[in-house]
Amino acid sequence: MKKIVKVQGLQKMFGKFQALRNVTFTVDAGEVVGFIGPNGAGKSTTIRTLLGIIKRDAGTAEIFDKDVWKDSLEIHKRISYVPGDVALWGSLTGGEIIDLFMKLHGGGDKQKRDYLINRFELDPKKKAKGYSKGNRQKVGLIAALSIDSDLYIFDEPTSGLDPLMEAIFQEEVEKIKDAGKSILLSSHILSEVERLADKVVIIRQGEIVETGTLDELRHLTRSTVNLETEGDVTHMASVNGVLDFEQKDNQATFSADNQHLSDILSEASKLGVKKFESAPPTLEDLFMRHYEG
Ligand SMILES: Nc1ncnc2c1ncn2[C@@H]1O[C@H](COP(=O)(O)OP(=O)(O)OP(=O)(O)O)[C@@H](O)[C@H]1O
Ligand SMILES: [Mg+2]
Repeated sequence: MKKIVKVQGLQKMFGKFQALRNVTFTVDAGEVVGFIGPNGAGKSTTIRTLLGIIKRDAGTAEIFDKDVWKDSLEIHKRISYVPGDVALWGSLTGGEIIDLFMKLHGGGDKQKRDYLINRFELDPKKKAKGYSKGNRQKVGLIAALSIDSDLYIFDEPTSGLDPLMEAIFQEEVEKIKDAGKSILLSSHILSEVERLADKVVIIRQGEIVETGTLDELRHLTRSTVNLETEGDVTHMASVNGVLDFEQKDNQATFSADNQHLSDILSEASKLGVKKFESAPPTLEDLFMRHYEG
């Protein structure tokens, strides 16, 4: 699989404060990578390093096999970027700004632009200084999505968008994903990441603490099981991988280590299963585990 983004051992100091300690991950061709972590974890710092806005202190960072610092001009021709706080030239209209962005990127797709303006319900004739936060985000998103890039980098792109617009953003990202583009998406909206990402990278205090597909990450954690048996359900409390066991008559609720799920199932079946419900952990569960340390 071709690597579009390769980050290895990235480090960044701000004075004496080490914002990035050791950041390593990749984005493959055609892959959507969800980049998540608590406030101040280093997501935007990593992204700004990738964009050549700030210079790393150590490690390597490449996009399209080129160095993000030395070859940033060349790299920028093939990427679209939307930050969480899109800044605009106040005296231009939204439409003019979108066109300017597109021109800087070799034209863009005007039909797609018109379609997106319509979809995001943006009034392109208003001057940017009159736009609300959400409308400024829309300008950034419409411009980025109208440009045919090989890599899209979004840093909390939907901040300030209402849920309807957020859903439209997700649909449009799915389309560029289907077109085989690569996407690095940093977001605090976990349902968004859950829906879009092929792979999740979790950063905490400047270090990557977990990387994998959602299924892989789920595998490392626990499901919530609701079990009712014909025989005495108390036996289940001592089965390997069963935790937080709570019982009422012949019904039990417990956490199950996903690695031990098949053992748990076979032990339960010895007792005669009347009900077995298992809910996999959500990305939120996985996330909270890391957030809380
Ligand atoms: N220019 C800077 N000068 C000094 N410290 C900085 C600078 N930029 C970022 N930092 C610090 O580096 C750390 C990482 O910040 P960063 O913006 O990358 O976090 P983040 O993961 O994007 O958080 P959020 O979810 O709040 O956007 C924070 O502690 C922040 O205060
Ligand atoms: Mg940030």
